Amino acid sequence: MKKFLAYTIPVILSLAIGALGSYVQSPSISSWYPTLIKSQLTPPAVVFPIAWTVLYILMGLSIGRLVALGDMSVVRLWLMQLLVNFLWCVAFFSLRSPLLGLITILILVALVFAYTIYSFSIDRIAGWLFIPYLLWLLFATYLTGYIYLNNPTTATLSAANAPQSSITIPQSSTIYTVPALPYLSGALEPVMSSETIEYHYGKHLKGYADNLNRLIVGTPYEGMSLEQVVTSTDGAIFNNAAQMLNHIIFFEGMTPEVVAIPKRLESAIVRDFGSVELFKEQFTDAAKSLFGSGWVWLVEDNYGKLSIITTQNADNPICQGLNPLLVLDVWEHAYYIDYRNRRSDFIDGWWGIVDWQKVEERAKFSPSPEF
Ligand SMILES: [Fe+2]
Repeated sequence: MKKFLAYTIPVILSLAIGALGSYVQSPSISSWYPTLIKSQLTPPAVVFPIAWTVLYILMGLSIGRLVALGDMSVVRLWLMQLLVNFLWCVAFFSLRSPLLGLITILILVALVFAYTIYSFSIDRIAGWLFIPYLLWLLFATYLTGYIYLNNPTTATLSAANAPQSSITIPQSSTIYTVPALPYLSGALEPVMSSETIEYHYGKHLKGYADNLNRLIVGTPYEGMSLEQVVTSTDGAIFNNAAQMLNHIIFFEGMTPEVVAIPKRLESAIVRDFGSVELFKEQFTDAAKSLFGSGWVWLVEDNYGKLSIITTQNADNPICQGLNPLLVLDVWEHAYYIDYRNRRSDFIDGWWGIVDWQKVEERAKFSPSPEF
């Protein structure tokens, strides 16, 4: 019985702290974290809870093995690393401070390294059980260091999440400014609530603009148009610039007015999709089946042909030489306040607020050497 408890108590304790850490991390994992590093370095959000669950179980089994062997001397060190692990979640993901995150994860790595060395000297299996955790932490340390060196200060990052009294975005002292909404924040209700607009437009989009304005200073991209930045960069600058551009197209493409599809646009849609209904059906299917965070676009190629494409994370069709006409944001933050996980309901409602006039204005319709 004692042996059983020696294993189960630390495993349960690890998983409990892990669950708490995941709860702290989750809002940032889905919206903030992917904007900070190259998409190739960002594991899909679903990887985090799976990886951490496995690591916490191994972590608990490791100390359980030492306790079962009668060695209690290292329990304090084990508990301390567990506590620092949680503090790292808070510092980096909740407070969104790359500096505090880097400091805490370096302390964590030192503690875990010390524990691993010690456990190897007592029991090799207990040591090996900690190795995956140590490797994961080293990778996380690299990413945290990368973010600290390549991204805005804590103050800027925190400002992106600070509550705002109004959704009017300050336009002073910034290079890239967010256009004012062409409608009031509550005008798209009930499809899109004012609360969603306040968060999505007032915080997320503003956050991307603030990050970009901070990141761009002193780089060769300073002074370029937003489109030029998107097609010339990668990493954090690209992520924030592309997310800014994507969101501007998204917010400009909606209206509280009932707008019929202009004839010229309608003809092009019928020509390339068979009918407006078939186009909507295909677009809706793409939006419903897009896995993870991304965008669904109606785009126009160099010859004026229309098609539907999807992009992941921050990618924009201009990177593929395509002209974006209409976009639907299917990142969870676009609909979670109003629809929770019911993405389908959000998509169905969104069709009723599309500004078809704006979509037509973005189209060039004929072969154009310009893009
Ligand atoms: Fe969004």
